[in-house]
Amino acid sequence: MLSQLLFACCAAAAAASASAGNTQRLATPSPRFRISPLDGSVIALPTADQLAFQDREMGMLIHFEIATYLSIDGCNGVPGLVPNPTLFDPTLLNTDQWMSSIVASGAKYATLVAKHNCGFTTWPSAVTFETRDNTTSRYNYTIADSPVVGADVPGMFSTSAEKAGIGHGFYYSTVVNNFLNVQNSLVNATWGPGEIRITNDTYDQIVIAQLTELWTKYGNLTELWFDGGYSASQQARITALLQEHQPQACIFNSCDANGTACLSANSIRWIGTETGLPNEEIWSTGVTNDGGSPTSPFFAPAECDTTLQSGIRWFWGVNQPLRPISEMIEVYHQTVGRNCLLELDLAPDRSGLIPATHAARYKELGDFIRSCYGPGSAVGSVANSTTGPIVTLVFDFPTSIDRIVLMEDQTTGQVIRGYEVHAKILDASGRNGTLNVPMTLVSSGQSVGHKRIDLFNTPITVTEIVVNATKFVDAPVWRSVSVHLCDSLPS
Ligand SMILES: *[C@@H]1O[C@H](CO)[C@@H](O)[C@H](O)[C@H]1NC(C)=O
Ligand SMILES: *[C@@H]1O[C@H](CO)[C@@H](O)[C@H](O)[C@H]1NC(C)=O
Ligand SMILES: *[C@@H]1O[C@H](CO)[C@@H](O)[C@H](O)[C@H]1NC(C)=O
Ligand SMILES: *[C@@H]1O[C@H](CO)[C@@H](O)[C@H](O)[C@H]1NC(C)=O
Ligand SMILES: *[C@@H]1O[C@H](CO)[C@@H](O)[C@H](O)[C@H]1NC(C)=O
Ligand SMILES: *[C@@H]1O[C@H](CO)[C@@H](O)[C@H](O)[C@H]1NC(C)=O
Ligand SMILES: *[C@@H]1O[C@H](CO)[C@@H](O)[C@H](O)[C@H]1NC(C)=O
Ligand SMILES: *[C@@H]1O[C@H](CO)[C@@H](O)[C@H](O)[C@H]1NC(C)=O
Ligand SMILES: *[C@@H]1O[C@H](CO)[C@@H](O)[C@H](O)[C@H]1NC(C)=O
Repeated sequence: MLSQLLFACCAAAAAASASAGNTQRLATPSPRFRISPLDGSVIALPTADQLAFQDREMGMLIHFEIATYLSIDGCNGVPGLVPNPTLFDPTLLNTDQWMSSIVASGAKYATLVAKHNCGFTTWPSAVTFETRDNTTSRYNYTIADSPVVGADVPGMFSTSAEKAGIGHGFYYSTVVNNFLNVQNSLVNATWGPGEIRITNDTYDQIVIAQLTELWTKYGNLTELWFDGGYSASQQARITALLQEHQPQACIFNSCDANGTACLSANSIRWIGTETGLPNEEIWSTGVTNDGGSPTSPFFAPAECDTTLQSGIRWFWGVNQPLRPISEMIEVYHQTVGRNCLLELDLAPDRSGLIPATHAARYKELGDFIRSCYGPGSAVGSVANSTTGPIVTLVFDFPTSIDRIVLMEDQTTGQVIRGYEVHAKILDASGRNGTLNVPMTLVSSGQSVGHKRIDLFNTPITVTEIVVNATKFVDAPVWRSVSVHLCDSLPS
């Protein structure tokens, strides 16, 4: 059974069903790892594509299809709902305009919903299939069956993304398709009047045929999303198709909960919440939908998907309030600042544009990130790629800071398992001068990985900082260490 959470709109559940036939497992990539020279433990190894994906840090998940025209947040959990394709009528559709918000937010990739659970495709799918009534049917629930016939949203989006220098990819839900009467990857054999009757095998063929369209017509894809996973009966074919057409893509929900089945070595896992506030140590390794595990043989970085609209609303909602900037900054710190890819929802409205209020909030977030962490923002840093557990930063003059940014070089795996940051904090009274200042612990944690941002309780004035990897399974390499002062937080 697929363990499928039913979401308000879009979330991931645990991935694949385990009832696969044994031959279908052959295509599953094995985990890649090495053995620690220090304690013999397993150190999972990343692929170059995974590290490049983590470097993007922040992306967008774009929800725009027929559900944009519903009052509810998608077709999830309403199996009989097949909205009329004439509803889809974005008269001002402009994907370059979407890119303005994506770039302004600081996102470096965007994944577009090409088919959500209603079954509507925003590209003119040319797939045909046999029905149980022995007729050949076209997949006639596409943009070509809507008022904007002639348009191709994935095509326009891909062109705009390439022009803007943003990595692009697609979301295609394989487990639900109301148009074809499919829930949990299975065709419900009770059909209503006018519903197209197909077999389970035909459904799998349609999924593969539509993924083939998406993966061959729109260039090299950065990320592919499997919301709710995929079925065991599709797994081997999807794995082979990926290897053939998009081997470099990173795959969200690639593995089942124990790694028995993975679609690709470029696996990405779900963090397990859609709040964007996971509030935990997050490892680059593991296949469970949580913070992961440092001892897992699978390198599969976590992705934290969340919304800008309040109430975890994914599709554009009429007068849906936005989350305040202070909360979005907290989301950034709990995701990017805790070694999780932040994937923020982007919700074009019914005209096909990002509303001005949304655009302003994305830019506000990007402005904060650039001013606090962008080039030239550090008030102190050490040479990049410093090998060894201890990094010391001695300041030329007393310097005020309120946070530290740590990055680990994960080329041969995530090896730091615990760290402490100590500082020589000057006494505001000046009584002790700058000599004989004791070291005070200002932050500590376990996982560093791609990036770790620790905010101090209060701004401090320091003369020296010592970062100490207190636990590691091989010689740590600090990719970068920098301290910042950004106490004028917008609120
Ligand atoms: C792997 O996990 C699935 C559920 O996702 C479970 O059914 C299966 O038995 C597990 N296999 C092993 C080898 O633990
Ligand atoms: C469809 O064709 C198959 C094989 O020729 C036949 O067994 C079946 O009865 C046909 N179904 C319908 C509804 O005509
Ligand atoms: C799709 O085609 C079928 C016949 O194959 C027809 O019954 C149905 O009304 C069509 N649906 C739409 C949305 O045009
Ligand atoms: C199939 O659809 C019927 C009619 O909508 C519904 O009563 C039934 O629960 C569905 N079965 C499954 C397994 O979803
Ligand atoms: C698809 O498979 C499920 C599970 O075996 C079954 O309940 C369902 O009736 C099948 N659907 C069709 C259309 O045969
Ligand atoms: C896609 O990637 C392949 C392999 O890296 C490369 O040869 C090809 O030029 C790329 N195509 C585009 C359109 O970027
Ligand atoms: C050090 O690394 C950081 C983070 O990757 C980067 O922004 C910065 O440009 C690097 N500095 C130098 C001198 O290479
Ligand atoms: C000042 O120095 C004394 C003696 O070394 C030490 O106990 C005390 O903690 C210091 N105070 C501050 C604020 O650094
Ligand atoms: C770093 O941490 C290790 C392990 O806790 C400890 O033995 C060592 O003294 C620390 N070094 C410094 C300079 O704090």
